[in-house]
Amino acid sequence: MKSKVTVVGAGNVGATTAQRIFEKGHSDVVLIDVVEGIPQGKALDILESGPIVKSDAKIIGTNTYEESNDSDIVVITAGIARKPGMSRDDLLITNMNIVGSVTESIMKHSKNPIIIVVSNPLDAMVQHSFSKSGLSKERVIGMAGILDTGRFRTFLSEELNVSVNSIDAYVLGGHGDSMVPLLKATTIGGVPVEEMIEKNRLEEIVQRTRDGGAEIVAHLKTGSAYYAPSAAVAQMVDAIIHDTKEVFPCAAMLDGEYGIKGVYAGVPVKLGSSGIEEIINLNLSQSEKDGLLASSKAVEELIEVMKGQ
Ligand code: LAC
Repeated sequence: MKSKVTVVGAGNVGATTAQRIFEKGHSDVVLIDVVEGIPQGKALDILESGPIVKSDAKIIGTNTYEESNDSDIVVITAGIARKPGMSRDDLLITNMNIVGSVTESIMKHSKNPIIIVVSNPLDAMVQHSFSKSGLSKERVIGMAGILDTGRFRTFLSEELNVSVNSIDAYVLGGHGDSMVPLLKATTIGGVPVEEMIEKNRLEEIVQRTRDGGAEIVAHLKTGSAYYAPSAAVAQMVDAIIHDTKEVFPCAAMLDGEYGIKGVYAGVPVKLGSSGIEEIINLNLSQSEKDGLLASSKAVEELIEVMKGQ
């Protein structure tokens, strides 16, 4: 039997995510959006690609949550996107209200789904969805680390003219200015990146990674990235549906790991059929630990602002 994945938000991120999941063929997809016609039209268009991409999955678009009944996974992409000059945090209150009500609607129709949050500011939104959902912390996960790590690996691949497949990297922490690339754990064919790229140049590449989302926004002007974000979500969905137990950087609720408690942060997690099956404890340098703590402080500040609403 196929699994069922609901994607909330039929904008660029949501629709592309729905397309990627549909094309894998392992799950039927429900695409939900408040705008009448958009999820229906996009879902039908994707469905009609089935014979061509060889997918027998079903996909429907709808403006209500009834069709999402008993979803295995729900991906939340709903919310406004950044415009040039805006930070992810500028979206906080608007998207908090959207993500909160989406989570409530999801929970009316699915008893025990796994929720993947993509809306920004990511760490605060996943925290909010978790608290609204009543689900266990293993079942509410934020997508960011795979995207940030993907960008870092892309830039390193270009710099060194080496396959992306030969680059292992980790970018942890918040999905924002405080993200923490782990240089010691970043290797090219097993060689630490710090031995291959001189310090100042590496710092530039790290900064480009931190600004990766903004770089795309500056090009697009009317929205933010969606091809790489949707690829990252699809990878998480695959790991959960196929119970692969692969380790990826994702935003997870920490309970003392890395010295952080009660706050979401980007850390390596093992993904399987029950969601986050383990938080992997990496041996971090002092400055990496400090970076992760600073990043969780930044998230805590956003949580305080949300509480004041
Ligand atoms: C980005 C947005 C989606 O990083 O946060 O592109």
